[in-house]
Amino acid sequence: MGVLESEFVGKTFDDFLFRPQKGVALSRRELRLTSPLTLNLSLELPVISANMDSVTGGAMAKTMALEGGIGFVHRAMTIEAQADEVRRVKRSYGYVVEQPFSLPRTATLGEAREIIRLHNTSVLIEDTAGSGILAGLLSARDIPWFPGDEERTVDEFMTPIERLHTGPPDVSLEQAERVLYENRIEKLPLIDSSRRIHGLITKKDIILHQQRPHVSKDGKGRLRAGAAIGARGDFLDRTEALIEAGVDVLVIDIAHGHSEVMEQAMKQFRNRFSDQEVICGNVGTAEGAIFLKDLGADAIKVGIGPGRGCRTRLETAAGVPQLQAIREAWCAVGEEVPIIADGGVRQDKDIFLALACGASTVMMGSALSGTTESPGTVIVDPATGDRKKMYRGMTSPQAVLGALYSSDEDDIDEALNTPAEGQEIQIPFRGSVVDILHRIRGHLRSAVSYAGERTLTEARAKIVRDPFQYLIPLSEPSRRESYDR
Ligand code: XMP
Repeated sequence: MGVLESEFVGKTFDDFLFRPQKGVALSRRELRLTSPLTLNLSLELPVISANMDSVTGGAMAKTMALEGGIGFVHRAMTIEAQADEVRRVKRSYGYVVEQPFSLPRTATLGEAREIIRLHNTSVLIEDTAGSGILAGLLSARDIPWFPGDEERTVDEFMTPIERLHTGPPDVSLEQAERVLYENRIEKLPLIDSSRRIHGLITKKDIILHQQRPHVSKDGKGRLRAGAAIGARGDFLDRTEALIEAGVDVLVIDIAHGHSEVMEQAMKQFRNRFSDQEVICGNVGTAEGAIFLKDLGADAIKVGIGPGRGCRTRLETAAGVPQLQAIREAWCAVGEEVPIIADGGVRQDKDIFLALACGASTVMMGSALSGTTESPGTVIVDPATGDRKKMYRGMTSPQAVLGALYSSDEDDIDEALNTPAEGQEIQIPFRGSVVDILHRIRGHLRSAVSYAGERTLTEARAKIVRDPFQYLIPLSEPSRRESYDR
């Protein structure tokens, strides 16, 4: 592979601008931002929320996926709690409702009315309670809208299975759409040859999917979710629970990923979960990137010390300026394994520079924190009325206390015996992360347009191969001219 260009040594985001090229897109809608997350998954918005306890829980992961990115649920909690957060994301959306509401045919109209009123949904009717065998479907329009008849049973009102359209459990989205359309119906229960219920497809959910083509979703239309695991202790049990909860991709996330600890962890991981998508990190050098590639990582996470809540460089003098680290990794592994640039993004322009110099996606902590979706409560300053949220490095003393809830004894031991390399800061409350992601999407599209292309893939391919045909190193005065406002 290539050797790092000397111009990148010691450099980071504020060291370069890129030379604008003739724009070719006539409309912003043409500008596509698809980029690989791992060897097998890609994102429509190449942005990832960091697995930090002040950044990504279930709410953030859900919103990230709805906007085309992905979130990695942090691991400073018990295995069960983390798996629950992942489950929350996976259940929140999907064109197949996997556990539809159901009642036995002997249930009363009063009970059915209550479910329909509370959840605004139809109810599948089973032969007997808990049997899972479909007898019929009851929707709001099957039952009288005027009060009364509360004690009559639902099988008097339901559409019985003989008159229902149903689909097989593995029906494709296209087949389901056709059946719904051709029969002018809104619900399609999925059953097998024994009439056992496997789910429900609704027209409403399909339409929602069509309106949001950029959503990060799996083969069943459920939102994609990532989660972090450690490299020791009960990390394999954690993995099993997260897979069981439906996680799409894991990250083995340790501060020093170019290490014996990582090597042992990946060997054990691959022995047990040979096909599971897994990202490894963090590294900051060419040797580190090659090491993770050779261990079989599906993506390499790059960043030693650029993070806003991070004190590693201050405390240990170890680290690599982030743009140099990204470029070193790309020179080492090229396009063989996607690179995730992790940490140090302060302005939206940093994201494009990271991608243009070799990253495929960018992970962010502080830039997405302080939002409605990030964990933690909004603190109101009694004197000024300003609203704030906390953001903290995962090795800050405060986050270390959180790690004590982990069930991993090695983690707890290390947390208690390692001096802090992270800190806590207050971030002004910024409202929903959706607005931040819309802004990022807009700025990335503009950058692609300035790069003279219609897609991020083309813009990146052009610059990454020969960056100094495009990048302009900045002097101190030109940096002031660019950024002092
Ligand atoms: P940003 O700059 O986006 O960085 O806030 C997020 C990344 O910072 C890393 N991180 C840490 N690094 N000590 C560190 O050295 C810490 O305590 C710490 N906590 C988070 C992490 O890679 C995250 O994605």
